[in-house]
Amino acid sequence: MLVMIKSGGAQAMPAWREAFANALPEADVRCWGDPGVPPEAVRYALVWEPERGALARFPNLRMVISTGAGLDHVLADAHYPHGVPLARMILPETRDGMAEFVAMGTLMLMRDMGTVARNQAARRWQTMPFTPLARRTRVGVMGLGALGLHAARYLAGMGFEVSGWSRSPKSIAGVASYHAMANLPVFLRRADILVNLLPQTADTVGLLNRQRLSMLPRGARLLNAGRAGHVVHEDLLALLDEGHLGGALLDVFEAEPLPPGSPLWTHPGVIVTPHCAATPSRADRAHRAAQLIRLAEAGAPVPDLYVPARGY
Ligand code: NAP
Ligand code: GLV
Repeated sequence: MLVMIKSGGAQAMPAWREAFANALPEADVRCWGDPGVPPEAVRYALVWEPERGALARFPNLRMVISTGAGLDHVLADAHYPHGVPLARMILPETRDGMAEFVAMGTLMLMRDMGTVARNQAARRWQTMPFTPLARRTRVGVMGLGALGLHAARYLAGMGFEVSGWSRSPKSIAGVASYHAMANLPVFLRRADILVNLLPQTADTVGLLNRQRLSMLPRGARLLNAGRAGHVVHEDLLALLDEGHLGGALLDVFEAEPLPPGSPLWTHPGVIVTPHCAATPSRADRAHRAAQLIRLAEAGAPVPDLYVPARGY
């Protein structure tokens, strides 16, 4: 069966081929844009940010698999071939990687490590007035799905006072749970550190604007590892400048790589990380893609599929 790959470009193909040779030896793995591939031969596509209209050119496509957990980069294609199942890439490595990144970022924000790093660059010795503690810090996690739920539990295990917000109600030991738009203000009002792990959908885009970010307690900090489209960056920078917010760690951006001229690079309240929160290895992702393809080939239910009625 023929698997087309668009992730990492031509230079990534040797690694993908080696990984698939182990995980799915029967697969004929081809690089996106290979002129020797007749479109009707393509059965599966493993993709990150496919060009608009590209997937619709494969008439016999059985499933599209995102190389990441998010599907927004595929669904941005108005010509996506409706009816072709679309699967998310969720591995234990994604969950653990994200939980560890969120733990690191939350501690960095709590302890103002952005300022410490800038002070070091300037050879400036500036002690902190007191040591903040996890058990005195309230963290709110937006999105309690595969990644948010794991991160929320991880933070609770570290001693943080954790709450979460999702679309549907949840009952999670050690995590105060809120759901629906009506309860967003009360959730935001009790977050000293807000962690965003929502998927980007029509309902969540632009959610973290001036009005909502202003609901956070004065001095609150934001960790965004969801999508850039959730946060209105001009509003974020204004609230940092006004002192309402105390800092932000941003992992995802509208344009990636973040352009050199972006004010986010140099703002003293912002830590920039290069979309590195949770990317499992190609070997792990090929292994997961192989599992999903085998299930699809067997006509068995495939997990982690896009649900159009929810938008994620
Ligand atoms: P998921 O399993 O689909 O979970 C999504 C969560 O968001 C669910 O709890 C869902 O509520 C909630 N939600 C969705 N729409 C909502 C709304 N309108 N109001 C309130 N809650 C809403 O997604 P995931 O696997 O955890 O991944 C989340 C996102 O993380 C991805 O879409 C991607 O953008 C991002 N991500 C980033 C990186 C990185 O490296 N920075 C890596 C992987 C993923 P219900 O529980 O009620 O359904
Ligand atoms: C990364 O952003 C992903 O969606 O996995």
